[in-house]
Amino acid sequence: MAEDLQINKGNKAEQYQSIIPQIKGLLEGESDLIANLANIAGALKEQFNWFWVGFYLVKDEQLVLGPFQGPVACARINKGRGVCGSSWANQCTLIVPNVEKFPGHIACSSLSKSEIVIPILAFGEVAGVLDVDSSDYNSFDETDKKYLEEIVSLIVI
Ligand code: SME
Repeated sequence: MAEDLQINKGNKAEQYQSIIPQIKGLLEGESDLIANLANIAGALKEQFNWFWVGFYLVKDEQLVLGPFQGPVACARINKGRGVCGSSWANQCTLIVPNVEKFPGHIACSSLSKSEIVIPILAFGEVAGVLDVDSSDYNSFDETDKKYLEEIVSLIVI
């Protein structure tokens, strides 16, 4: 597919419905995990212009920073620590409307105000997480959860 994305505005669901087929196109025929994660992060950043969007991958019992778009971030997160480590430990998506109220939240940037973390499952285990940060409070809801889980399900590990 052409490398230029078509960025459609509209409500949140419409934006996901526009970007998801384009993400599928980017992943089609490419088996390299890092290339695919990098393109997903790039496509989501272009569509939604979130403060930070990227991946952590489980390596040696830690989450290690993977492809992302946004400011530099913490390189390693332990299981159960912060929003990412909690999503890993509990194997579920976490929506945090106000990061200051999340016990143990890891503040890679004080500009991040709300967050959603989606685990990437492979063979029943968490292989990594997709982490999205917004500079506004209350940015993420069930619509983000539904579509971001769909995007994560496209990732083959
Ligand atoms: N805030 C995350 C850490 C990762 S950064 O936001 C990129 C957390 O609490 O797990």
